[in-house]
This record gives sequence, structure tokens and C-alpha cells, in this order.
Amino acid sequence: MTVSEMMLEAVKSGSMVRKMFEEGRRLKAIHGISNVFDYSLGNPDLSPPKGFAEGLREAGQRTERGLHGYMPNAGLPEARDKLAGHLRGIHGLGEIGPEMVVMTVGAAGALNVVLKTIVEKGDEILVPAPYFMEYGFYAANHGAKVVPVETAEGFRPDPGRLAAAMTGRTKALLICSPNNPTGVVYSKDEIAEIGTLLGERRRKTGQDIVLIADEPYRKIVFGDVEVPSVFGAHDNSVVVTSFSKDLSLGGERIGYLCASPRMPGVGKFVEAATLANRILGYVNAPALMQRLVAGLTEDCVDVRVYRERSRMLREALVGMGYRVVEPEGTFYLFPESPLADDLAFVEILRKRLILAVPGTGFGTKGFFRLSLCLDEDMIGRSLGGFAKALEESGHIG
Ligand SMILES: Cc1ncc(COP(=O)(O)O)c(C=O)c1O
Repeated sequence: MTVSEMMLEAVKSGSMVRKMFEEGRRLKAIHGISNVFDYSLGNPDLSPPKGFAEGLREAGQRTERGLHGYMPNAGLPEARDKLAGHLRGIHGLGEIGPEMVVMTVGAAGALNVVLKTIVEKGDEILVPAPYFMEYGFYAANHGAKVVPVETAEGFRPDPGRLAAAMTGRTKALLICSPNNPTGVVYSKDEIAEIGTLLGERRRKTGQDIVLIADEPYRKIVFGDVEVPSVFGAHDNSVVVTSFSKDLSLGGERIGYLCASPRMPGVGKFVEAATLANRILGYVNAPALMQRLVAGLTEDCVDVRVYRERSRMLREALVGMGYRVVEPEGTFYLFPESPLADDLAFVEILRKRLILAVPGTGFGTKGFFRLSLCLDEDMIGRSLGGFAKALEESGHIG
């Protein structure tokens, strides 16, 4: 067999999100695009902010030699510089400099770079569940494994369970806030508690666990919800992110990592991450995109659209009898499945041409994820299907 056992297994378990996305393409070819309610993939449907098209037009006029050539593997100095300035504001840390920033191929690239930089074979990465399923593949890429840790009521982080899950092999705790798939945003107190937990572990055992904050949804929050910085809570921390969601640039593959300036040995970490970026085959993040996003650090798609979709669908679902935690951000809802078997319920939805991803795909059975990357008209026309699916599952409202 040409294909490795590991990849055969990976293809089999695959990403349920991607599988549903492919199923959506098949169903749309049969029933027409406007008749399939595709809540499967977190693929923003809003156009990037105006400044992006303007920047692209300007960039198209430039003809200097070397503009599209290779560059230092950590990224263009001017892009890292602008991002560092932006990050100083967000994290309230004047010590953040361009030398802590590495431009990456999306948040996925950043996560792989961080994991390659820190893990030894057999290491464990704690992740509060439910979690973005690709984490498991990324950890495996580098010989580590993900250890899912159940969350408390409302998908809040549970320090007791996190402490109980730590072993001598725990290398990192990977959190995602605002969270995919639940939309939960960790509060300042919760981040502080996580910091305290990791600090206690270090004091008691000498083990300095890395806190990785995956933050591609940082700007997609509702109302005055704040996303607290992890840098103040734990010195050994790193933020990974991208412009895939807040600028709707998922296909352009641009993101970055920023290590805390207080991380012990931060210089060595960034040096290793820069080499990891190259030898993982990314070499460097796309040059054109680095230039563009550096000028758009304060921009964002219109979050009110996602908020309104979220409110509209959640209220409708709750009105029918579904139970749905109220998200504080992102463009996801994570309702409880009316059937304990979430795969069976997602199949009931699929028959009504509603595509959702089973919670099992995020390490939490009994739920399903809806991604609100479809317009209000489609959401409105899908409501009848949700009501009938609930009825079919035996919950008559
Ligand atoms: C939580 C989370 N992390 C990372 C990624 C990967 O982001 P990117 O497409 O920027 O690589 C995604 C994409 O959906 C995500 O939801």
C-alpha cells in the first residue's frame, strides 16, 4: 500500500465538518443551491472590508523587483512591526515587539508551527471539549496527542478537571476563546484561574505548561463582550490567530503567532518557530497578504450581521423547544441534540436538506454545530425543517 497506515486512519476518521461540506456540494448539485441549508463549514460569506479590495488594487500596481520573492521566514519586517503595534494595544503589554511575531499560513499553520516548536514525541496537549477537531491531527503531525477535558455547565472551562487531566507528559493547554463550536468567550476571571492553575503546577512540579490561545474569532464578539488577554495570566503563553474569520480571508491563508514577551526563553522559541515555519514546508506566509493585512489590523467584517443571525436562529430554535447556550461571539450555535445520538439527529436534518455537524465531531456527543455562514433568507426558510426534525425525533413542541 502506497498510503501510510497513519494517513489511511486519518482519512477514515476524517473531519466531519469537511465531510458534511462535501455532502453539501453533492446535494446542491441535485436540489439547487438555494434549497440546501448549509450550516456545515465555518466559511465566512461576508465580503472582506472595503480596505482589502483597495489594498489589493494598489498592490497590483507595484512593480519593484523582489516584491514577490522569498523573505525572512518569520515574515516581512514591516508586517511584523505593524502587528506588534496592534498587539501592544490589545494585550496592554508595551514589551511586545516585532521579534515576538511570526507570520504564518493561517491559524492552522501557526498551530502546527507552535506544536512542532514545543512537543516531544508522546507529549499531551490538553483541550477543553468541545474543541476544533483538527487539533487532533495537528498534534499527531508532531508525535503528540490531544487530551480532551470536559467543560463545566455552559461549556465553561473547568479548572478542577483540567488539573486532574495533567500528567508528566502535559506540554500545553490549548484554549479557543471565542470558542468554535460553542461561541463561549472565557471571562477575565476564568483566564486568571487558568493562569493560577498553571502557575501552581509549575511551583509544585517544575513543569511549565505552555498556554496556547487560538484566537481567530477574537474580533467576532457581540455587544461589549471582551476577550481577555492570556499574556497577563501566564508567562509561558503564545497566541495563534488569522484573518480568516474577521476579514473573511480563509482562502488566502494568512495568520500569525505572537509569543508572550514574558515567556521564558522567548528568543529561542521564536527562532525555533521561524525554522519550523520553513521546514514544515510553508517557508513563509504569502507576501502579498502580509502587506495587505498589516494595513487592516483595525478592520473587521460587520459583526452585527453574525450577531443578528445568531439571535434570530437561536430564538427560533429555543421557541421550538431546542436547548441552545447563548453564544457571546463567533458565528456558531451548538444546540443540544434532541436525540442522544447526535449522528442520527444530524441525519434527520440532512434529509430535510439542513447540513449540520455532529457534536461527536468536536469531541462532545449529544450536540450539533450550526455555522451561520448563510444569509438571513436561507436561515428563515430553514426553520420549518428544524421544527419537523424535532418532531420526527419524538419531541413534539
Ligand atoms: C478554532 C479554529 N482554529 C483554527 C482554525 C484554522 O484557521 P485558518 O483557516 O486561519 O487556518 C479554525 C478554522 O475554522 C478554527 O475554527
